[in-house]
Amino acid sequence: MKTIILNGSPKGNVEKCGSYLLAQAFAKKMSTPCEIRSIIKENRLDLIESIQHADNIILIAPNYIHSVPAQTLDFLLALPPAKGNQTLGFIIQSGYPESSESEIICRYLNRLGERLGYTVSGSIAKGECAGLAIVPERFKKLLDEFSAFGALFEQTRQFDRQLVEKFAKPVRLSKPLMWLLNALTPLSDVLGWNRIMKSNQAYEKRLDTPYLGPAQVKTMNG
Ligand SMILES: Cc1cc2nc3c(=O)[nH]c(=O)nc-3n(C[C@H](O)[C@H](O)[C@H](O)COP(=O)(O)O)c2cc1C
Repeated sequence: MKTIILNGSPKGNVEKCGSYLLAQAFAKKMSTPCEIRSIIKENRLDLIESIQHADNIILIAPNYIHSVPAQTLDFLLALPPAKGNQTLGFIIQSGYPESSESEIICRYLNRLGERLGYTVSGSIAKGECAGLAIVPERFKKLLDEFSAFGALFEQTRQFDRQLVEKFAKPVRLSKPLMWLLNALTPLSDVLGWNRIMKSNQAYEKRLDTPYLGPAQVKTMNG
């Protein structure tokens, strides 16, 4: 069985890329070597040709603004329909702890895979990955779990349900924790966040809502 992993991060296949590190871990314990290809850095037609010769396709992509990066989404929209019994699975990793950040894009991708005739292996929303590429040594447990997950996938061609649920925790932070985090907001000065914003000339813009038109802003403000 040939498996191809598609890295959907704009950073490409470099050590400073969280998606690439997860892809390497996923492939590490597979008995058949698995290609890791970069959606954004490679020629699209070559990549599609390779996909058509694979049995299993896994997308590992970061969450950028509640979705996957635009170029990755554009590539996915150009995916050809499944050939034979091909599987397609999705792993979306994000910076914030709550995996609910990726809930909607995962649902969308599952539906896209089904519509294209793939057997959808499943989808994983994994939060708290912002530090992965910065301090990978702190993520050893996660990377080991991903290796075991990849080996299991190779045998079943399906994402293990229990592991999917485990990776997704926490789906949402508890109310008391949210309350505590909100209460800490006034400490932004002490924690240094405001200083970083000021040094980047971003402090005055911190409450901007660039994606809302004037009409929507008016509605929000009553
Ligand atoms: C432009 C941009 C937008 C992001 N948007 C989100 C977001 O909406 N939610 C979230 O949880 N993390 C968000 N993140 C954090 C990334 O998902 C996280 O750092 C991820 O591990 C980066 O993976 P990569 O190294 O494979 O690109 C964003 C990061 C960037 C650079």
